[in-house]
Amino acid sequence: MSTLITNIAELMTQDADHRVLRDAAVVIEGERISWLGPASDAPAADEAVDAGGRALLPGWVDSHTHLIFAGDRTAEFEARMAGESYSAGGIAVTTGATRSTSDFDLTRLAMGRVAEAVSQGTTYLETKTGYGLDLENEARSARIASTVADEVTYLGAHLVPAGVDAEEYTQLVCGPMLAAVLPYVRWADVFCEQGAFNEDQSRRVLQACKDAGLGLRVHGNQLGEGPGVRLAVEFGAASVDHVNYLSAADIDALAASWSGWDAAGSQGAGQRGTVATCLPACDLSTRQPLAPGRELLDAGVQIALASNCNPGTSYTSSMAFCVTTAVLQMRLSVHEAVRAATYGGALALGRESGNDVDGERAVGSIAVGHRADLHLLNAPSATHLAYRPGIPLTRAVWRAGVAQAAGAPQAVR
Ligand code: NIG
Repeated sequence: MSTLITNIAELMTQDADHRVLRDAAVVIEGERISWLGPASDAPAADEAVDAGGRALLPGWVDSHTHLIFAGDRTAEFEARMAGESYSAGGIAVTTGATRSTSDFDLTRLAMGRVAEAVSQGTTYLETKTGYGLDLENEARSARIASTVADEVTYLGAHLVPAGVDAEEYTQLVCGPMLAAVLPYVRWADVFCEQGAFNEDQSRRVLQACKDAGLGLRVHGNQLGEGPGVRLAVEFGAASVDHVNYLSAADIDALAASWSGWDAAGSQGAGQRGTVATCLPACDLSTRQPLAPGRELLDAGVQIALASNCNPGTSYTSSMAFCVTTAVLQMRLSVHEAVRAATYGGALALGRESGNDVDGERAVGSIAVGHRADLHLLNAPSATHLAYRPGIPLTRAVWRAGVAQAAGAPQAVR
């Protein structure tokens, strides 16, 4: 089955050459993109969709969410808006609610959140454990996450539960808990911050998870300067997320991590570095300074934008909101912001390249052989994401070639 999407006013590919095509068309065959180019040269297909002079982008790649949770933290949010500062303590509130919720309800809640994200253009999504915080509940969070998300991260090292000795808990995270989640996860993470895990504990968690064969990421430098970025780079983590408080040495270390990567622009070549993942919705909701995305890009760091959807610091799955904020407040161009929310997310998840043979298809950019993850805007250009802030602009979404959103354009033939 093939589908031709034609009459695309702006096709923002986010491919190796950063191409933006006008009057373009794309052909989907099964789950993959099989052709793209000028609409006038498009081949015939089984069906055709008229994009009506709108813009087509890669689907959003949301590389940082915490969707396996129950409960609500409205009161904490209200207190913050009244002037209280965020501290990681609220994680315990969500942990209590999550532990007392059945598998069925936790799954249903997580599936609803994924559906909400997809309906807004997200086509590839990571989520984490981290609201279980004991062996049984971390393992079940990992199992449930593996049924709803594309990528799963183990975040047993989110917070030391109240009444538990930090040393004992770190040993649990590095030992039996890790073994219990291992069948369900590809990544591991640690919240390296004052009040969560210190440098020594973070280092032990990262080493144990690396030894177990997991890819690494770090929650770092969210609430103040600290060792998070340095550790992430030292361990070759795929990403360090939050990055609000960076020293010059942190930015230099991140930039140096990309120095062996192909600077000429071809994707996936050379030694990969550590992606700095900026979470602007979280920064606004916690009234933290916005992550310095502009400075990071100017220094040569690859960045991602992600929603950080969670009930404490960022209760939104809207990647469009993150892109809008990155343009209006972080001084990224529209192209840079869309790139960070698509290709950047894929890079943070190690999914930016793939091949046509083993079926592990690249996501986050539009190119032949890549997964057909596409987002049609109800606008003639991606600029409208920033020009019309707050307006829902998702017209249609294809995920692995399958049309998702209600209101998708009708096949015309
Ligand atoms: O990414 N920073 C740590 N973890 C989450 C927030 C967790 C919470 O407060 O529930 C985050 O912001």
